[in-house]
Amino acid sequence: MANKAPSFETEALREFGEVLKGRRTINLYLQTSVPEQLVRDAIEAATWAPNHHVTEPWRFLMMGPQTIARTIERVRVTLAEQKGQELADFKARSWAEKPGWLTVTCRRSEDTLKEREDYAACSVAVQNFMLYLWKAGVGSKWTSGGITRDPEFFDILGVNPEEEFVVGMIWYGYPKVTPTQSRTAADDVTVRLP
Ligand SMILES: Cc1cc2nc3c(=O)[nH]c(=O)nc-3n(C[C@H](O)[C@H](O)[C@H](O)COP(=O)(O)O)c2cc1C
Repeated sequence: MANKAPSFETEALREFGEVLKGRRTINLYLQTSVPEQLVRDAIEAATWAPNHHVTEPWRFLMMGPQTIARTIERVRVTLAEQKGQELADFKARSWAEKPGWLTVTCRRSEDTLKEREDYAACSVAVQNFMLYLWKAGVGSKWTSGGITRDPEFFDILGVNPEEEFVVGMIWYGYPKVTPTQSRTAADDVTVRLP
């Protein structure tokens, strides 16, 4: 007879599930800064993401005030050209309210399978980062907007686009508003094969 599996219906697992399911993308933040040590701890948690062949393909760029200011100015200029000054100023004001900024990059590879797997690993790392913060009461938002493909942004960050690409820019801070979300029932996206 098979051994009995240990009970999985523990309070710790239920709470862990609540962290996973309760994390939301946050757009509006309190103007309270997040302790740097917490961000560093979240980055360390990110580095424990699975990564095939242990390539550790990521870099975590903690953006300081000058880098943030240059990024906001860059988005203001590009948006003003594309969509007009009013929208550009609105966006710049809203970006100026984001308390914390992190950009995650992924190493390029000539091997397309390797690059694809490395991107997957970096995405998991971002999720580790966001979930670690969420457990500490800090929300975040992953953006892959146009800025993350802008060569001027790479210059601001000191990123060589021949060596790495931007996976995302992550804003983080204590949430002012936590939106709700819904998901398709897991049973509707699960297929049991014989
Ligand atoms: C790779 C990636 C890129 C994203 N880029 C953007 C973005 O550019 N703008 C945006 O509003 N949200 C972006 N998001 C956040 C998603 O819109 C968000 O996760 C989704 O609405 C579900 O909300 P939730 O995170 O609260 O579950 C991105 C998410 C991922 C995974």
